[in-house]
Amino acid sequence: MTKVLHAWLEGRYVGEFVDAGSGRVTLRYDSDAPDTPVSLSIPRHGTVPEHAASRFLDNLLPDRPEAREWMRRITDARSTSTFDLLAEVGGDVAGGLVLLPTEDLPESAATALLVADDDAIAFRISSLHQDPDRWWERADPARFSLAGSQPKFALADVGGTWFWSNASVPSTHIVKPAASTNRGAERAEVAAERLAADIGLVAPRADVLDVAGERAYIVERFDRATQPNGLATRIHVEDLTQALGQAGASKYAIGAKPIIELLLRHDPTGEAAHTFLRQAAFNAAIGNADAHAKNYSVLLRPTGIRLSPLYDALPTRLWPAYDDTLAMRIGGAEHPNELTLDHWSKLARRSGLDVDRARTEVREVYEAVADRVDTAWTELDDDQAERMRALVAEQTRKITSAVVGPAGIEPTTSTV
Ligand SMILES: Nc1ncnc2c1ncn2[C@@H]1O[C@H](COP(=O)(O)OP(=O)(O)O)[C@@H](O)[C@H]1O
Ligand SMILES: [Mg+2]
Repeated sequence: MTKVLHAWLEGRYVGEFVDAGSGRVTLRYDSDAPDTPVSLSIPRHGTVPEHAASRFLDNLLPDRPEAREWMRRITDARSTSTFDLLAEVGGDVAGGLVLLPTEDLPESAATALLVADDDAIAFRISSLHQDPDRWWERADPARFSLAGSQPKFALADVGGTWFWSNASVPSTHIVKPAASTNRGAERAEVAAERLAADIGLVAPRADVLDVAGERAYIVERFDRATQPNGLATRIHVEDLTQALGQAGASKYAIGAKPIIELLLRHDPTGEAAHTFLRQAAFNAAIGNADAHAKNYSVLLRPTGIRLSPLYDALPTRLWPAYDDTLAMRIGGAEHPNELTLDHWSKLARRSGLDVDRARTEVREVYEAVADRVDTAWTELDDDQAERMRALVAEQTRKITSAVVGPAGIEPTTSTV
């Protein structure tokens, strides 16, 4: 049976995703669709790789099958297939899209504003503490989807009141209650985002939400902008797994080199690629080993692409449960504390970046993180703040004390 999802991009009809039943999904752009593509992997004109459209859609859903199953139960979706789930929750997803099974325009916001009161928000946080896959509740009309494996939900701030999001009421914030095994993760993620902004990277405003005795990380969405009437509009964004036309399951297999090459292809000025490099250096400097391809995104603007603000910058090395192997090898290095400036040079040279500029930028990011190590982590428990000092020192030493030879000296490891 053919299934269709109608798509609006930043409020304009852009076309329809069609699943012809054979597993082959296509996006048929409308003749009046805006020039901005839905994905760099699904260009408006020319050949589209076979799996790009189905992978793009699948990447909008939560990573864990258990969360998808819970989504199916709550929404009464026909199955956990990408199309069936997005038919229920495609009204509020990452980026500028609204995806609906009907051709009707989203209902007007006035009828769709449903208050999320403190008790309901606190209940959502506490139930996610008990069951990390319980992202939705039958009683709440929230219909949203986000990627990732951590428990989360979305809220819409309209004029200072929280509402549940849907096709007409875009969410403006993401709430992530930390797993109980990750003591202090809310505070650590807030600290990391603030540190990033402090050293000149673009980072969304983040805070710890305390509500009716429950607490969680809360972050402003950078893919939303508030209008004078208080409602948000959507801004198009896609993660780098989507931009590369890859499946979500490959997020740990995508290297920094193809990412930089893609960014240079779509932004020959090098701005997007160098921003990616600085974000990657920041993640390495704070001990975030989990910065995989779904933790970087691009904004697709009519004027071209830009790297999105930094998100999901958790210093994962604070918690033993995380694997401390780098999600993305850098110049062949596999661990944050193994990295030298030459690994970064090697990555820059092999992916077509200006090596001298890359070395300078990476070094500056590490130095800025190290300079603020006594002030950036003070909201953490004392033992964790101390551990951050040790981690940053360990990771920075090799970068900043390296005898700087001519740009691009090869380190001993050989693969990127
Ligand atoms: N501040 C933000 N603004 C817009 N989108 C965001 C923001 N933070 C996260 N996202 C989107 O939500 C997804 C899940 O968030 P993330 O913090 O990465 O969760 P997880 O810890 O589960 O990986 C991201 O992959 C990204 O698409
Ligand atoms: Mg993530």
